Amino acid sequence: MRLTFLSLFPEMFPGPLGASILGKACERGLIRVDLVDIRDFARDRHRVTDDVPFGGGPGMVMKPEPIVAALEAVLGRTLDPAPAEVVEAGRGPYRRDLADEGVRVLLLTPQGRPFSQAMAEELAACRHLVLVCGHYEGVDERVRLFVTDEVSIGDYVLTGGEIPALVVADAVARLVPGVLGDPRSPRTDSFADGLLEGPQYTRPRSFRGLEVPPVLLSGDHAAIESWRRTQALRRTLLRRPDLLARARLTEADVAVLRDLRRQVAGRAEPVL
Ligand code: 6GU
Repeated sequence: MRLTFLSLFPEMFPGPLGASILGKACERGLIRVDLVDIRDFARDRHRVTDDVPFGGGPGMVMKPEPIVAALEAVLGRTLDPAPAEVVEAGRGPYRRDLADEGVRVLLLTPQGRPFSQAMAEELAACRHLVLVCGHYEGVDERVRLFVTDEVSIGDYVLTGGEIPALVVADAVARLVPGVLGDPRSPRTDSFADGLLEGPQYTRPRSFRGLEVPPVLLSGDHAAIESWRRTQALRRTLLRRPDLLARARLTEADVAVLRDLRRQVAGRAEPVL
């Protein structure tokens, strides 16, 4: 998979992308990363990329020409704007032409669709992800018509789209086949089936008087699986009951949850 970051601050990327699992994936050629400095596509002498907002007000707005010129250079073609009605609702992909070729152009913005594991899975099937990082007070509204999606990573305000772009790239890249050592792990993750993961333990068996649950040492694989499922349901019930409504649950899960709810209701203070 190709990942291209468009940013005014390309120096923010090599650290996070060079380390750990993503760095290995690049070295092994599983993902290819390109960093594009939007400033290189400013045409004027002072290479200006932002300007004051029309109508007045505080802050600066990123100009559309350098961003769209950088995008067209990356894609190797000129783009017509998408219909404004499609963009208005914010449900991407806005452009079937690009999406059908496995290309998604994401504008990182707090006004975008909330990023989710489901979105990461959808994007992991792409050939080329282009991540457009906004800055200052925002980007000129017309830039939206040249991307396929607008994505937010949550309900809080960051100084720019660079860290959100890294968050999205990390969540997507780890789903690309071969990027993680063990191909099973993406499927047992928190959220993979809509539940939080239960507790995990490693050596030593006893740490400062805290023991590992005996079932994990029993060698009884069926008992271990069943304990883990119960723990995942319990943790989700206690911490994120909102997730249970959308989780993929078996009849056995529903029965376990009924028991857990009774137990939880019977105590003043939930203890894990
Ligand atoms: Cl994508 N950008 C900025 N600037 N702030 C955010 C965000 C994105 N997602 C959450 N907060």
